[in-house]
Amino acid sequence: MSITNHRAGRHFLQIPGPSNVPDSVLRAMSKAVVDHRGPEFPDLTFDILKQLGPIFGTKASIIIYPSSGTGAWEAALVNTLSPGDKILAFETGWFATLWKNMAEKLGIKVEWVEGDWRRGVDPTIVEDKLLADSEKEIKAVCVVHNETSTGATSRINEIRQAIDNSNHPALFMVDAISSLGCTEYHHDDWAVDVTISGSQKGLMLPPGLGFNVISEKALLASKNASSRLCYWSWQEMIDNNKQGVFPYTPATNLLFGLQEALRLLHNEGLENVYARHARFAQAARIALENWGLENLCSIPEEYSNSLTAALMPEGHDADNLRKIILEKFNMSLGTGLGKMKNKIFRIGHIGDFNELTITGTLGGVEMGLAIAGVPHKIGGVNAAMEFLSNQ
Ligand SMILES: Cc1ncc(COP(=O)(O)O)c(C=O)c1O
Repeated sequence: MSITNHRAGRHFLQIPGPSNVPDSVLRAMSKAVVDHRGPEFPDLTFDILKQLGPIFGTKASIIIYPSSGTGAWEAALVNTLSPGDKILAFETGWFATLWKNMAEKLGIKVEWVEGDWRRGVDPTIVEDKLLADSEKEIKAVCVVHNETSTGATSRINEIRQAIDNSNHPALFMVDAISSLGCTEYHHDDWAVDVTISGSQKGLMLPPGLGFNVISEKALLASKNASSRLCYWSWQEMIDNNKQGVFPYTPATNLLFGLQEALRLLHNEGLENVYARHARFAQAARIALENWGLENLCSIPEEYSNSLTAALMPEGHDADNLRKIILEKFNMSLGTGLGKMKNKIFRIGHIGDFNELTITGTLGGVEMGLAIAGVPHKIGGVNAAMEFLSNQ
């Protein structure tokens, strides 16, 4: 890159993950690589597993893969299910749809509940579908907690209640990839059987780690499942982790970073971390409302702590707005995925974020709206600042 291409100041990475990585996490990852079978490694593994427990709200086994979130999904499906099994899944957005496609590729049948991408999973539909399944063919209910493509957060506790009301034995699998570390999460209290997550969102790390948290019921199901698997085997991980090691080479330096990121989260206090995300999400919504733009998520109880998706006024192209904001102000916003392409832009307020980060982000959006000629009322940022100054 020539010197004239230099852009002063930091790039604003305001997509809903990967999120910004704190400097101390970057420094932790820059340490020299160590022997993952050496004498010091088990202490690192044990410390990370201990610190992860409260973030997932669990005392159950946690597995860390050197993978993206998609790998962690595959692990959840192939460990517990057999080809020909059926799952119940919901079209809450792009990521839920990817989950359906993956299951089908693995030979799993999907009972698919279509949706308009404007809300999370409706617990009453879960209950109705399970009650209708008199033969108990549905082996798992699969839900995306925070749909990153839409900014709608499903109510996992109410979905659990719906499963219990129907007295159905299906496993409950939850994708907490973009909710973990931003919104409270209770794997044990919500009796989730497999929680799936990744490193690059609320955990404030680069992409590259995938997680599964596994209930006893899921572990039992894994003994009877006949999907072919090798790399994703839970049992081998659990056996190796007991000794503080891994069955294959772990992502050593991401683990250094994870240890530091977990220290930061616990140091702030998890309740404070979630309250901070809720507050910045509210600031984003206040700006949106004052601009006169519509939130894609239509259910207020399901507004996301991690991102806010704004619908563009008819005839205006969201990707053109994003392009202007990137070129003029060096800020990346999330694009509309799948059927939301060009219709929405997504503001990430996830991970390492403070009052001035959200104010700067919203300032970039307001300037971009004006330059792109998108009809809006000025003053969204002012309204957000007033909220942030007084709360
Ligand atoms: C909710 C959700 N599920 C799944 C994924 C897929 O994860 P990955 O891209 O790390 O494979 C993402 C990625 O953004 C996500 O946000």
